[in-house]
Amino acid sequence: MAVVFRVDGGRQTEWRSRIDWTLVVSLCSLAAVLGLYWYRPLAPALHHGVAPAAAAVQPGPAVAQPPAPAEANAGMQPQQVDAQQSAQQQQQQQQRTRWFKPVGYHLPEECLKHEDLYLGIVENLRPWMATGITRTDLDACGVPIAPNASYINTARDGNHRAVLLQNKVHITSGGLWRGQGKEQPLYMHFLTVIQMAADRFGLPDMEFVVGFGRDIGKADKPGANGGLCPVFTYCKSPNDFDLLLPDGHFIEAQYDLWLNTTSEPDVVPWEEKEEKVYGRFMEYEPAAPPLDRYGVKLEHLRKDYANYSHTLQQTNATRTDIGGEFSSLGGQRRFKYTLNLDGIGCSTRFQQLLATGQTVIKQESPLRGFFYYALQPWVHYVPTGWNGISEIDAVVAFLRQHDALARRIGENSKRFAHDHLNEEGRLCYVKVLMEEMKRLMRREVRAEDFPSLITYEEEVENYFTEQEKRGLKHRVIIV
Ligand SMILES: *[C@@H]1O[C@H](CO)[C@@H](O)[C@H](O)[C@H]1NC(C)=O
Ligand SMILES: *[C@@H]1O[C@H](CO)[C@@H](O)[C@H](O)[C@H]1NC(C)=O
Ligand SMILES: *[C@@H]1O[C@H](CO)[C@@H](O)[C@H](O)[C@H]1NC(C)=O
Ligand SMILES: *[C@@H]1O[C@H](CO)[C@@H](O)[C@H](O)[C@H]1NC(C)=O
Repeated sequence: MAVVFRVDGGRQTEWRSRIDWTLVVSLCSLAAVLGLYWYRPLAPALHHGVAPAAAAVQPGPAVAQPPAPAEANAGMQPQQVDAQQSAQQQQQQQQRTRWFKPVGYHLPEECLKHEDLYLGIVENLRPWMATGITRTDLDACGVPIAPNASYINTARDGNHRAVLLQNKVHITSGGLWRGQGKEQPLYMHFLTVIQMAADRFGLPDMEFVVGFGRDIGKADKPGANGGLCPVFTYCKSPNDFDLLLPDGHFIEAQYDLWLNTTSEPDVVPWEEKEEKVYGRFMEYEPAAPPLDRYGVKLEHLRKDYANYSHTLQQTNATRTDIGGEFSSLGGQRRFKYTLNLDGIGCSTRFQQLLATGQTVIKQESPLRGFFYYALQPWVHYVPTGWNGISEIDAVVAFLRQHDALARRIGENSKRFAHDHLNEEGRLCYVKVLMEEMKRLMRREVRAEDFPSLITYEEEVENYFTEQEKRGLKHRVIIV
């Protein structure tokens, strides 16, 4: 429909009055249509601020209505009023975030302040923005293994398909891969954190895939069927299509307890800390060795840094203390600067160091964990490595000369970790990730589509029982 203005001499007035009338009607219709479109959630939103328990009783999709003038509310059903309030709530929320606009779902109040964590979600969902996430994409992660298959024989490096139904995580194969080592709970915690977010905020019904057993991204090309597998992992390079979940170490290493410890006044105040960079590492070899600017492949980064530091000490340079005897994370806080290098994949010590208030000197690396997108170099950490291993010494010399800057960077990272990497921030991230994914899902799920459904709680229980039978101690899994 095109509105053509025609202005011709004497008949101008008459035309104008007629056009105005047409315009008013057209614009009203247009506004009504746009209004409907704007306020209609793109995907069914199950929880409009309703507690998960209450929502489970009435799981039908709630379609929000466009707001109507106040006097029109009189004849409305309670649900319609609720829907209206929820749409208004959404609009009010949107005005209080700087850039993140939840559309079609209600974001819990406490999640608004964590919006910078959602940068990575938008970035990582981009491959599916135009096409949505289809059955073909999910199948590109691997067809679900037979429901009667033994988990013992499931590949270590397996993708596990799971489904959220009425806020319960279910495994849709015969069970999860069982490892004997301590890495097992780490991968199970991909599901723990989703279950925790479902319990706290409510999550939409949807199918998803978690990737077990890899330290960096699993999906760097389309699958055999042409689909792009939207698999959850904890660390990826920009070439990977993976979506990021918080690392299992947040739970296993009791990160929130570490936040509490580091929120107490430091035993060694900044002025009294040693002006050295400190680093202690397991000598892992990186899965994806980086290149420096000279094209040198940094094959054994951690060993190389230790050797370099050792060499410096021989020549009476004392700005580094890297690669010596073990010291606890708490004890390491007597140094102003601390070095963080990738392990096989993302180093999960990074989030711990960020919380200490030391200046974190971090290897420049393409690898990303879920919160890395919210960090900025020279604001939250100091980058190093691109100019070769020896750059570390120059960086420390610079920080010694710019003590106020070094201190500020440490304070920034500490504030970031304490404000956003706590349990609330992590669960809000999962809430937004799942809601944004749901909006892209082209497939609705029904319980009857899955021949085998094991709830996550059952699976954890089974795992404990097996461990006890083997006489193995398990570590605590918090659900
Ligand atoms: C699983 O079920 C399939 C088909 O029902 C059957 O052919 C197969 O032998 C079963 N496997 C096991 C381990 O029971
Ligand atoms: C951290 O401290 C807060 C406030 O004292 C407390 O509520 C919370 O339970 C503590 N967290 C942990 C993991 O101990
Ligand atoms: C350790 O560093 C020195 C001096 O930079 C170098 O000559 C030596 O090859 C290095 N050793 C190893 C094992 O990298
Ligand atoms: C060694 O370090 C000390 C103390 O920092 C300094 O006074 C001395 O000049 C240094 N010697 C060399 C050869 O660099």
